[in-house]
Amino acid sequence: MMIRSLPIAGRTLADPVDPSLDLEEEIARLKKDRNAIVLAHYYQDSEIQDIADFIGDSLQLAQAAAKTNADVICFAGVHFMAETAKILNPNRVVVVPDLEAGCSLASGAPADKVAAWKARHPGSILVSYINCSADVKALSDFIVTSSNAEKIVARIPSETTVLFAPDKNLGQYLNKKLGRSMILWQGTCIVHDTFSERKIEGLKLRHPKALLLAHPECEDVVLRMADYVGSTTGIINYATKSDKTEFLVATEPGILHQLAKAAPNKTFVPAPPEANCACNECPHMRKNTLEKVYLSLLNLEPRLEMNEALRNAARVPIDRMLALS
Ligand code: 13P
Ligand code: SF4
Repeated sequence: MMIRSLPIAGRTLADPVDPSLDLEEEIARLKKDRNAIVLAHYYQDSEIQDIADFIGDSLQLAQAAAKTNADVICFAGVHFMAETAKILNPNRVVVVPDLEAGCSLASGAPADKVAAWKARHPGSILVSYINCSADVKALSDFIVTSSNAEKIVARIPSETTVLFAPDKNLGQYLNKKLGRSMILWQGTCIVHDTFSERKIEGLKLRHPKALLLAHPECEDVVLRMADYVGSTTGIINYATKSDKTEFLVATEPGILHQLAKAAPNKTFVPAPPEANCACNECPHMRKNTLEKVYLSLLNLEPRLEMNEALRNAARVPIDRMLALS
């Protein structure tokens, strides 16, 4: 199989990748040839994290996308993240390893239903978690991520009626923390909703010195047990700076790769799901593979495309967030 010598236009996405290729080397070559960067979320497979130019949480990835001078952005994350990169970079090519990599929060908040919800609350402000479609972003007054939501919501006058979509767990966490009564869309993340209170209790007994670090997309029952609640970057920073050496981690286990690098002498135990399954791994994030990253850079497909009107409307609340972050 002489894939390397095939003209790019002659390939189809279904072509197999020559197993003898050194994908890391090929990706490095393509990044240089195409003036491309790879942005990766912490929930990607470790081999994707290792070839990325930048790894971060949702806010940092949006900030990196806003700053780049690359001609091509390969977004190793999920669809809403790549959409955000495209909204911020209309003139750059944004490719995604797998266009089907979605998000239960985004798919659980269809724009027509969110628009109808908003219409039932005239005079309200819609704050949307970045894990939503571009259409929902276009309806929103503010976009927030798990690392800036508290700061941004705190700035909204307390007498304002605030609708918060789509994550009810993050919304409830913010309501409690800030003493607010935002009206919550009832969406959840299929990954963070699976952690088992019972099994975490068991782990705490077996690791009595361990601190529980949890993402705010987790259920309230898990957040109440946590010693620290924060975004993926927040969790990494907290564990790195802490004088403690053992941690239970209630978020997608892809983060363990960077935790181990940042704090090699500390122990990280992933929080288990209730069922006997690997359902604490995000099935959307894990659709991406190193092969698909390589193919997306080789073919410059699949591309993220969006019409200008939608892009412009969705950009307004994203720019507000970036200005406040
Ligand atoms: P952050 O990386 O922004 O904390 O988000 C976690 C997540 O679930 C992304 O889909
Ligand atoms: Fe969406 Fe949850 Fe997967 Fe993040 S981990 S992309 S919130 S389904």
